Amino acid sequence: MEYLIKSANAATQIAPSSGPSAELFSAGENGSTAVLAPSLALRAQAGSRSAPDEGAAQAPAFVIVGEAVDDVIAREILLDRAMGPNRRKKSSEKLRRGRRPSEGLAFVARDPSGAVVGTVRLWDVRLGEGGPALLLGPLAVEPGLKSGGIGSALMRHAVAEAARLGHGAVLLVGDAPYYGRFGFSADLTGTLAMPGPYERHRLLALELKDGALDGAKGTIKAAGRKIKGQAQGFVA
Ligand SMILES: CC(C)(COP(=O)(O)OP(=O)(O)OC[C@H]1O[C@@H](n2cnc3c(N)ncnc32)[C@H](O)[C@@H]1OP(=O)(O)O)[C@@H](O)C(=O)NCCC(=O)NCCS
Repeated sequence: MEYLIKSANAATQIAPSSGPSAELFSAGENGSTAVLAPSLALRAQAGSRSAPDEGAAQAPAFVIVGEAVDDVIAREILLDRAMGPNRRKKSSEKLRRGRRPSEGLAFVARDPSGAVVGTVRLWDVRLGEGGPALLLGPLAVEPGLKSGGIGSALMRHAVAEAARLGHGAVLLVGDAPYYGRFGFSADLTGTLAMPGPYERHRLLALELKDGALDGAKGTIKAAGRKIKGQAQGFVA
C-alpha cells in the first residue's frame, strides 16, 4: 500500500502516490499531517465505508492528523474498546499518568466521516539517570478496521515526526513480531527496565539517531510535561 505523508514543515513521500491523493482530506487541526491510502481515495471521496470483511483492497480510506482537543473522548472510548479495561494497569501507564504527550506527537486516524479510528501518542521519558527518549503508546485501531494498514500508517508517521522533531530514540512495550517491521527490537533495551512489571523481550527500541541508546541503563522515568488541574485521565 502506498502512503503520502504531508507536513506543514516537511513533506515526506514514503512511496510514490499515483491515485487521487491527500487533497481529499484537509490537514489536521494543527495543520501537521495527512496520510492517505491513495488507492482508496475514490471511495473516500464518495464517502463510502466498506465492511471489514471486504478485504484490504476495499478497506476504508483514512487520514492521519494531529490529535485535537475534541478527540479526547473518542480516543478514550476507542482505547477501551481496542485494549480492554486493564489497559490502565500497564507499567507504561506509570510513565504517562498525569503527563501530556510529547509536543506535537499525538496522532489520530480519521475515517472519511471524521471519526477517530486509530490513535497513537509518544511521551517524553528519561533513560535511568541518562538522556531523554520517547515512549510510544498506546497504539490502537478500531477493532472492526484491523489489518487495513491504519496501525502501520500511524506507526510510520509517528516515527517520522519524532525523527523530524529531533528525538534520538523511541521505546515501547509491545509484540516484536508486529513492531519489528518498523525497526524496533529488544537488542538495545537489555540494560533498561520499566518501572513496574513487564516482559523483558517486549521492551523494544528504535534509534532515530545512531548511538542514541549507547550506554543507556536503568529504570525508565517519566519526563513529560505535567498536567495541571482536573480531568488528568482524559487529557492524557
Ligand atoms: C496492533 C494494532 C494497532 C495493529 O493495527 P492494524 O491497523 O490492524 O495493523 P496493520 O493493518 O498495519 O497491520 C496488520 C498486520 O499486523 C499483524 N499484527 C497485528 N497485531 C500483531 C501482533 N500483536 N503481533 C504480530 N503481528 C500483528 C496482523 O496480523 C497483520 O498482518 P498481515 O499484514 O500479514 O495481514 C491493532 O491490531 C490493535 O489496535 N490492536 C489492539 C490494541 C493493541 O494491542 N495495541 C498494541 C499495544 S502495544
